[in-house]
Amino acid sequence: MAELKYHPGFGNQHSTEALAGALPHGQNSPQKPPFGLYAEQVSGSAFTAPRAENLRSWQYRLRPSAQHSAYKPLTHTSLRTAPCLEIPASPNRLRWNPLPIQTDTDFIDSLVTVATNGDARAQKGMGVHLYAASSSMTRVFYDADGELLIVPQAGALTLKTEFGVLEVRRGEIAVIPRGVKFRTEISTDVRGYICENYGAPLRLPELGPIGANGLASARDFLYPTAWFEDVSAKSQVVAKFGGNLWACEYDHSPLNVVAWHGNYAPYKYDLARFNTINTVSYDHPDPSIFTVLTSPSETPGTANLDFVIFPPRWMVAENTFRPPWFHRNCMSEYMGLIHGTYDAKAEGFLPGGGSLHNAFSAHGPDKATFDTASRAELKPQKIDDTLAFMFESRYVFEPTAFAMREEFLQADYDGVWSGFDGASLPRSS
Ligand SMILES: [Fe+2]
Repeated sequence: MAELKYHPGFGNQHSTEALAGALPHGQNSPQKPPFGLYAEQVSGSAFTAPRAENLRSWQYRLRPSAQHSAYKPLTHTSLRTAPCLEIPASPNRLRWNPLPIQTDTDFIDSLVTVATNGDARAQKGMGVHLYAASSSMTRVFYDADGELLIVPQAGALTLKTEFGVLEVRRGEIAVIPRGVKFRTEISTDVRGYICENYGAPLRLPELGPIGANGLASARDFLYPTAWFEDVSAKSQVVAKFGGNLWACEYDHSPLNVVAWHGNYAPYKYDLARFNTINTVSYDHPDPSIFTVLTSPSETPGTANLDFVIFPPRWMVAENTFRPPWFHRNCMSEYMGLIHGTYDAKAEGFLPGGGSLHNAFSAHGPDKATFDTASRAELKPQKIDDTLAFMFESRYVFEPTAFAMREEFLQADYDGVWSGFDGASLPRSS
């Protein structure tokens, strides 16, 4: 495929056509759209959502999306949706090894749910899934339950969506909005993480006293150029709807949008573009300064979901224990590692693996990290060749039964916090 062209700007009203003259001008639904195309609106928000939160795009298609057979249930052994209730949520700290890549398995079949929270039908919370695929999809998928934040950890994905094509490699993320159809194509084995966000669509966080610039910049979010398949062969479409998979048949490719305009479309972002902010005086700041995207809940400042990264950065704090401190949070944290070593864990937290620290469960640096950082000479230090991330939520995570399998779950994660000596108090005379 020729080098892809993208349209920059988070939430912009983009306009794009794969064929000159395909996009109507001056109105959305002319009596006769150009070339006999069919006009179709895709809404990602209620029609009456406030203007700043209103999401919709107009597509001009070879055939309308409505032309398909009835959906029939499709079984899936390892994909789950909240409320899942397979394993009770617990205060136990959990950590997992990477998922092995399976042979002859496409993106959909490879999906494994690690944990869920909230309630998909109430539009709050999320599912945390892993993918580890070896085959390109020959079918098309959409998720009516949530938008998909895809975090590749190994290999690159070509996401052929109804809005165009996104190529996403390790170090980048992609977001596929709720209901948008896509197919993943791969040239090598791939593995990664997915946050299925049941709640409010992801957006850029407020910047407060940081000012008008900093963290992720709106101009670095890239949207696809219109692209289409004029294919009349049968095509299976798999939908995730109400916690179950369903499949139907089209007699053509549903990736047939010749032109579109609007602000509801998939996008990608290179995490290396993140403008990282850190202390230049003392103490380790709260990790909210590393928020890339947020899904707000109805309580101001208390996220349904924050997507947070721990990228390469300079550490210069004086008289400070520089790694993350010991802490207990009201929020719950699923963490993953894209590459390198995370600065709060000396070993055991592996690229492709994950960890879960639920609300008020005590965690922080392991013993080895604590010992090293407590004695370290505090000269300026570049933390390099590392990229960890966190899906943080106000809702407690429940692991799935699959996640508790002993070949996947690490035994004795609690042991990383063993062996701390008691503090030395002065003896009274
Ligand atoms: Fe934490």
